[in-house]
Amino acid sequence: MTISTDIANTIIDPKAYADGDRIDQAFAHLRREAPLAVAQPDGFDPFWVVTRHADILEVERQNELFHNGDRATVVTTIEADKKVREMMGGSPHLVRSLVQMDNPDHFAYRKITQGALLPQNLRALEARIREIARGFVDRMAEHGDRCDFARDVAFLYPLHVIMEVLGVPESDEPRMLKLTQELFGNADPDLNRTGKSVTDVGEGVDSIQSVVMDFMMYFNAITEDRRANPRDDLATLIANGKINGEPMGHLEAMSYYIIAATAGHDTTSSTTAGALWALAENPDQFAKVKADPSLIPGLIEESIRWVTPVKHFMRTATADAELGGQKIAKGDWIMLSYPSGNRDEAVFEDPFTFRVDRTPNKHVAFGYGAHICLGQHLARMEMRVLWEELFARLDHVELDGAPTRMVANFVCGPKSVPIRFKMH
Ligand code: HEM
Repeated sequence: MTISTDIANTIIDPKAYADGDRIDQAFAHLRREAPLAVAQPDGFDPFWVVTRHADILEVERQNELFHNGDRATVVTTIEADKKVREMMGGSPHLVRSLVQMDNPDHFAYRKITQGALLPQNLRALEARIREIARGFVDRMAEHGDRCDFARDVAFLYPLHVIMEVLGVPESDEPRMLKLTQELFGNADPDLNRTGKSVTDVGEGVDSIQSVVMDFMMYFNAITEDRRANPRDDLATLIANGKINGEPMGHLEAMSYYIIAATAGHDTTSSTTAGALWALAENPDQFAKVKADPSLIPGLIEESIRWVTPVKHFMRTATADAELGGQKIAKGDWIMLSYPSGNRDEAVFEDPFTFRVDRTPNKHVAFGYGAHICLGQHLARMEMRVLWEELFARLDHVELDGAPTRMVANFVCGPKSVPIRFKMH
């Protein structure tokens, strides 16, 4: 079955994600009428769109049958793909992080940092993360009774946490934030490097490539430093990580830092900003958590489901396969739509309602299987600590104008969440 051009163009349209309703309606339509079908937006190769929760899990659990690295991992036009392959000696990727790898490399590279990010090892960081969270709550109080929660708190707190864990000094945080926003906000004239709507494909790829180069220059210096002066941070693990007894390749090491330095805060920032937006719009949900802070873990899971900051990843079939009653051919490109899976009516009751006490809440916002988010425990922990500190002091919150979302179709969420609040 083929998806209409109109819907196909909508599901890759950065403006539809910024709109919110438009993208939700497109996916609701697909779940109902064509839950597993082929889309071919103008200028793109055809790809399957997986919109049902069960089918997303089915693909993710078979990571030998559905590869990450064989084609672009993010939906890309034919022209941009061609340009990237020309620049990268035939590879469809500008970077080679865990996301672009398959086994045996994926397992070997993931092992280098996985242990450090497990809950039992993160526990040692909780006191320091709480100190950081308290600092941000104090700063919010200093704003008086109004702030832009996205810009003043949600974008900055997870940035500070991941940069400490990674080992990037505080003075470089503004630069890391700007580079991340330029990368994920490439389609957004407010955020990208050119400061305008990028319509020319070549210009778009060049601008992403120049951001990647800046990141690489920065992390090259960090690698040299951590080889000479190892410390207790992720950068030291990456700089000194060995694969089959040999130091990690340069592109792989640089890409490892880049994914930690970008995915490590933008996602959590979007979730935190979107959570407060939802709480401000749903005072009954705010009151529930205020009265019973044991609901904070529920608030976190629901806000991750609600925002779903990673909008998709692509996979490529390594052999002919059957999925959800459809025949997928070897080499087919497949889009996993996490926001759609997280609004699947077959799994979530009233999926368009924000409920802090939703149980169970088996969202797919962190993915699933071998590539499941490496930072999921850190993300949950830092959000829990922030909400514990914030709910202890926040008595009331309401919107103070209309929030806005980023114009993007890969990693994105709120851009601005103006609020009025009372704190003690
Ligand atoms: C992978 C979401 C926070 C690092 C992923 C994937 C998703 C995701 C959907 C792909 C999973 C798949 O292919 O099955 C999120 C969300 C976050 C978050 C929603 C916050 C709410 C973080 C943080 C870090 C991080 C804090 C910091 C270390 C990574 C890495 C990968 C990844 C390195 C690649 C894993 C692999 O391919 O093996 N994340 N993420 N993420 N995430 Fe996160």
